[in-house]
Amino acid sequence: MENCVKKAVILSAVPKSTGFTAEMLKLIRQTAPSNIEISDVNMFYQNILPCTDCGYCLKNDACRINTDDFDTITEKVKSADIVIVLTPVYFLSLPSPLKAYFDRMQRYFSQKFIRKIPSKDFPARKKGAVAVCCGAGDSFVVEVVSKTVKMMFDCINTQLCDVFSVMNTDKLHVSDISSDENMDKLKKFWENLI
Ligand SMILES: Cc1cc2nc3c(=O)[nH]c(=O)nc-3n(C[C@H](O)[C@H](O)[C@H](O)COP(=O)(O)O)c2cc1C
Repeated sequence: MENCVKKAVILSAVPKSTGFTAEMLKLIRQTAPSNIEISDVNMFYQNILPCTDCGYCLKNDACRINTDDFDTITEKVKSADIVIVLTPVYFLSLPSPLKAYFDRMQRYFSQKFIRKIPSKDFPARKKGAVAVCCGAGDSFVVEVVSKTVKMMFDCINTQLCDVFSVMNTDKLHVSDISSDENMDKLKKFWENLI
């Protein structure tokens, strides 16, 4: 079973190719077991319109907005066994393009928690994880982001299995994060996901 191919989707917010999140993405890919097929969606390059709380999903199994990239990305999430959210912290939260995607998950929140309809879209339990970096050294920041991700995971029947964090990036160089300690953490990160 462990050797069968599994699909992982990384919902990422990678603002620049030379930064910490870009480096974390590289390390996550490098440490992935060989039977994991990874696809990465960088939300900074997607067109996601914001949720406007129009109320459509309180009565329908759909979102009124259907002209952006939300559905295409969510098809990838549906077909994945593993969902990873990779992000820097912006103002104690997620960068706006990733947060816009999370907010649009409201249609699944409404379906599951308000209308109490069993989800046809996410029937199988998935495993999920967060990889997060932040400038400060306060673990509260990582906790806030993890709680936000857990809430989104609850909408898509995904269990939060690991949190990999790199704190204090204000005081680090990008190359510092490929330390032995972090490589060990990433090995365990993947072990918790398979
Ligand atoms: C708009 C913005 C808001 C930020 N807010 C926070 C914050 O609330 N807490 C924190 O610890 N770091 C914060 N940071 C620092 C980033 O999380 C940190 O620099 C991270 O390493 C950026 O990732 P990157 O190197 O991939 O760009 C912020 C950075 C930016 C640009």
